[in-house]
This record gives sequence, C-alpha cells and structure tokens, in this order.
Amino acid sequence: MSEQKQPVSVVGLGDMGAALALAFVDAGHPTTVWNRTMEKADRLVQMGATAAPSLVAAASASPLVVVNVTGGEVARGLLERAGDALAYSDVVNLSDGTAGDARRTAAWAAAHGVGYVHGQIETIPAGIGEPSSVIVYGGSAEVYERHRTTLDVLAGNGRLVSGDPGTAALFGMGIHSVMWGLLNGFVHASGMLTAEGVEVGTFLAGADVQLRQLHDFLGVLAAEIDKGEYAVPTSGLATHLPSIEDLLRQGEDVGLDNELVEVTRRWVARAVGDGHGADNYSRLVDYVRAG
Ligand SMILES: NC(=O)c1ccc[n+]([C@@H]2O[C@H](COP(=O)([O-])OP(=O)(O)OC[C@H]3O[C@@H](n4cnc5c(N)ncnc54)[C@H](OP(=O)(O)O)[C@@H]3O)[C@@H](O)[C@H]2O)c1
Repeated sequence: MSEQKQPVSVVGLGDMGAALALAFVDAGHPTTVWNRTMEKADRLVQMGATAAPSLVAAASASPLVVVNVTGGEVARGLLERAGDALAYSDVVNLSDGTAGDARRTAAWAAAHGVGYVHGQIETIPAGIGEPSSVIVYGGSAEVYERHRTTLDVLAGNGRLVSGDPGTAALFGMGIHSVMWGLLNGFVHASGMLTAEGVEVGTFLAGADVQLRQLHDFLGVLAAEIDKGEYAVPTSGLATHLPSIEDLLRQGEDVGLDNELVEVTRRWVARAVGDGHGADNYSRLVDYVRAG
C-alpha cells in the first residue's frame, strides 16, 4: 500500500506559489490551491491539485497551509481574512518581507492559536524541489518538526535557523544584500573591462582563486564584527584608498557610471579620516549601523 502523504493547502499561485504547489503535487501530497485570480489554478488542477472555492475553504482544507504572496503585509492580510478557518492548521508563510513583518504575522498567529513558521526561499521558482536549493525557517520548532518531511519536498537544504521568525527573514535579506553588492561590483567590473575590449569570460576564468579568497575573507570579517575588534597588523583600511582612487580614475577614463565606487571611497575615507586606517574593512560596519 502506498504511503499516505500529508494534505497541504497553498495560498498564492504566482510564479513561486505555483512552483511550490506543483512540487507538493509531484511528491504525492493531496494539494488544495487558492489564488486571488483563480485562473492561475487551472494548470495545477490539471496536474492533480484541487481548487478551493474560497480562501476560507483553502485554509480549512489541510493541517498545513503554505502562504506565498507578494510580501509580508499581503500575507498577513490574507491570514486575518481566513481567521477562524485556520484554527486546526499550522501556517508556513513563505512570503518575503521584513523581520518586523514576520514577527507581526507570528504575533497575530500566536494570538489566534495558529502554529506559525516563517520561511525564506533562497532560490527561484525553477529551483523549487532541487536538492541544492535553500529555504531557511524561523519560528516554532514544534511546528517545523511536525511538517519537516513535507517542507523538505520544496528544497534539499531546508533548516530551522531560529525560534524567531524575524531571523529567517533577516537571513534572506542578508543574502540579498551580499548578492546585490557582489552583482553591482561585477556589473561595474564588466563595464570597465568591455570598455577596453576585454571579454568578461576571459577575466572570470582567471579570477577563480581570488573570488574563493574573497569568500574566505568574509569569515575573517564576520569574526571581527561579532567580537567588535577590527585592528589588523597589515593591509588596513588606509591601504584600500589608493586602489579605490585607481578604480575611480580608470572608470573616468572610459566614461563609466562610477557611483558605486564613489560610495566605497566615501565610506573608506571617512573611517580613515576618523583614525581607523589601521583597522580591517570590518570597521565600516560601525558606520553602516550609525546610518
Ligand atoms: N519569483 C522568485 O524568484 C522568488 C524567489 C524567492 C522568493 N520569492 C517570494 O515569493 C513571493 C511570491 O513571488 P512570486 O514571484 O510568485 O510573485 P508573483 O508571480 O508576482 O505572484 C504574486 C502572488 O501574490 C498574490 N497577491 C498579490 N497581491 C495580493 C493581494 N492584495 N491579495 C491576494 N493576493 C495577492 C498574487 O495574486 P494574483 O495572481 O491574483 O495577482 C500572486 O498569487 C514573494 O514574496 C517573493 O518575494 C519569489
């Protein structure tokens, strides 16, 4: 006899929500779906999902209700609308949002006796169900453990990182912040290289070792930031300045948008001017925190 899989409801069938629902259907979970615009359920129903006639019907159809809509406020609004229909369900909210959004939604759930976990998806819809994909969760360990096997259908690397739902949201935004910093630098570098006729692929092929070293350097900075100790014997912030000036002048020579590098110079020059030239790059976190 085949194993009975846990029923799941999926609220929100945009690009990501449809991928989540499909992963549950593919894994054999009885899957109830609801979307504000119900036409988006048609393809999923053809694949084996059941369309709920209303949000309330979707909320009461399964012991696990997965929500994936545009942002934390929209998600909270839908949960409030579902109200008592969630009385016998746990909610896993996979909608992006701030730490405050996640905590406010968790507080609403706690006040209404609804088990709650916030999850931060760290992949694109095509990555859902892949062994390499990551979703980090925050909130009730009891709720997470109750649904862990079901949630593991969505990503090979699902894990609870904190009892605080806001921390999971922060982990997601932390990755975004690092990602955009890296991507912006890559785009600037690409503009500079190609303006001089150098192929980006050729550059990248020779940059493997340095990029790996950069990744390792983050570990060094993290330890310094967590201890609040920034001094280094060599290669402190002051040594960055001439290289930043070179990068700026090269950009000017070929007419690049140099705004990103100007921000870098401003941050570093300010810290050096305040007497922190012998500190590591980690010192800049004080300036970011000060706003
Ligand atoms: N796509 C990605 O690569 C990706 C990656 C990681 C995380 N995420 C997160 O996943 C969530 C969904 O993203 P998505 O790419 O699926 O977005 P999307 O394709 O734009 O879908 C948005 C979903 O939210 C619903 N929605 C928006 N406003 C609503 C409202 N006022 N009331 C009810 N439903 C409403 C939409 O319903 P309608 O269909 O009726 O408009 C739709 O189901 C977001 O929080 C996003 O940040 C997405």
